[in-house]
Amino acid sequence: MYFTQLAAASLAIGLTTAAPAPTAQWGGNWGNWGNWGHHGKPPGKPPGGGAPTPKINVQLGPRPYYLVDNMDEGPLKKKLESCKEEPKSTSSFSISHRGAPLMFPEHSKQGYDAAARMGAGIIECDVSFTSDRELVCRHSNCDLHYTTDILAHPDLAAKCTEPFTPANPENGTAASAKCCTSDITLAEFKSLCAEMEATTLNALSINQSTPYFGRIGITPDWRTNMYAYSCAEPMSLKDQIQLVEGYGLNFTAEAKTPEIPMPFQGDYTQEDFAQQIVDTFKNYSIAANRVWLQSFLPDDIFYWIANDPAFGEQAVYLDERADLSTDGYQTAVDSLPDLAARGVKIIAPSIWQLITADNATGQIVPSSYAVAAQKAGLEIITWSFERSGPLEVEGGGYYYESVANLINNDGDEYTVIDVIAQKVGATKIFADWVGTVTYYANCFGLV
Ligand SMILES: *[C@@H]1O[C@H](CO)[C@@H](O)[C@H](O)[C@H]1NC(C)=O
Ligand SMILES: *[C@@H]1O[C@H](CO)[C@@H](O)[C@H](O)[C@H]1NC(C)=O
Ligand SMILES: *[C@@H]1O[C@H](CO)[C@@H](O)[C@H](O)[C@H]1NC(C)=O
Ligand SMILES: *[C@@H]1O[C@H](CO)[C@@H](O)[C@H](O)[C@H]1NC(C)=O
Ligand SMILES: *[C@@H]1O[C@H](CO)[C@@H](O)[C@H](O)[C@H]1NC(C)=O
Repeated sequence: MYFTQLAAASLAIGLTTAAPAPTAQWGGNWGNWGNWGHHGKPPGKPPGGGAPTPKINVQLGPRPYYLVDNMDEGPLKKKLESCKEEPKSTSSFSISHRGAPLMFPEHSKQGYDAAARMGAGIIECDVSFTSDRELVCRHSNCDLHYTTDILAHPDLAAKCTEPFTPANPENGTAASAKCCTSDITLAEFKSLCAEMEATTLNALSINQSTPYFGRIGITPDWRTNMYAYSCAEPMSLKDQIQLVEGYGLNFTAEAKTPEIPMPFQGDYTQEDFAQQIVDTFKNYSIAANRVWLQSFLPDDIFYWIANDPAFGEQAVYLDERADLSTDGYQTAVDSLPDLAARGVKIIAPSIWQLITADNATGQIVPSSYAVAAQKAGLEIITWSFERSGPLEVEGGGYYYESVANLINNDGDEYTVIDVIAQKVGATKIFADWVGTVTYYANCFGLV
């Protein structure tokens, strides 16, 4: 998703290791349908079609338990405590945002594996494209210099849109670089290692002689570089589809807002890009009702509605208008009935837009945005939990900014999730560490 604010949760405790390759077991006897190799060919349509049943031994790790223990006393804490010893399963309420980037390099195989293990029903690929027009999972078109080790490959670094310039501590100039997926081919992209989203550039200037030059950046102390030292594998959309399908899970793919001038190479338009995403899923015989396409650009949503209605039916309009101008929030609220009339079914604003502080009662309640979306008949999804630092700090920062005065401990995250689920009525929630959301969903029967 778009927002690059560094935020999320604390505690460097989690899964001990990335999950092993899944052994897909389907409800029916589909043989090895879920097990074709990493570079395998797409399978034919499974006999009988329909959605596979995920069979994953879901493990949430200690973090949800820590959060429940950290909550203020009350009925919600009691309810969440009552589920502690029950087994947990995959939930369609739980969407993996970029894999599991609280602790694993974003959009890496290892991060997606961690998300599947933590019960995500849906796993996200933010889609960008390479110079040979192959689709790859990256949070933005031009983030390779801070989400991969491209700067440690001199031959590839030389292809960056803007080359690496070291910082100059003498005059206070920061280091810079700009490396886009479209600067390199798919094969070159696959030769990279994914790394934690980090402010690597100034570190690079200072530490050029270290063995991890270009690899390991300055990760916030509430995330970890633990899983970045070995090479985390970046993935194409095709790789990601095969991996997620192997787990029997569902998909969300975002057409990234272009940072590369379009049409690319003179003739590759934004519409071609939006269509290529759909065609990739079709080529793997993935049913449209298992794919949530998303975009911050309303035109992408309208394109899918007009050109591929089965996919357009559940396309998600990611709404960040409130962050772009001072009257953006109200403009967005006022536009919801019109968006619904134009065929948009699902709206996804950030968490803070959906809630507000009722200062008279000290309660967190649905915002005017949430009420208007309900009234317009729109389904609501939100982003992204576990992307803030510790909630003790500054009321949780960006994602909680509309209720900051009511947030003061990590356990408050569940208070907010509860309002979003029960009062706002969101059907799905993105998280950087899905175990937290999967725990809530299982406890409340949202599976
Ligand atoms: C995937 O989507 C299909 C169709 O909406 C649904 O039936 C199935 O339960 C979903 N699977 C998961 C794991 O959420
Ligand atoms: C700082 O020094 C670099 C050369 O190392 C130069 O390119 C840059 O323009 C200088 N910046 C300022 C603000 O003086
Ligand atoms: C450079 O590397 C040293 C030794 O590994 C480390 O202590 C220091 O924090 C690094 N500096 C930056 C800015 O990353
Ligand atoms: C889908 O498959 C067709 C036929 O093999 C191929 O021509 C097309 O390029 C593929 N499209 C995508 C987006 O992979
Ligand atoms: C609630 O109070 C806080 C300060 O205590 C204030 O910043 C916030 O705007 C108030 N919220 C509403 C909805 O009035």
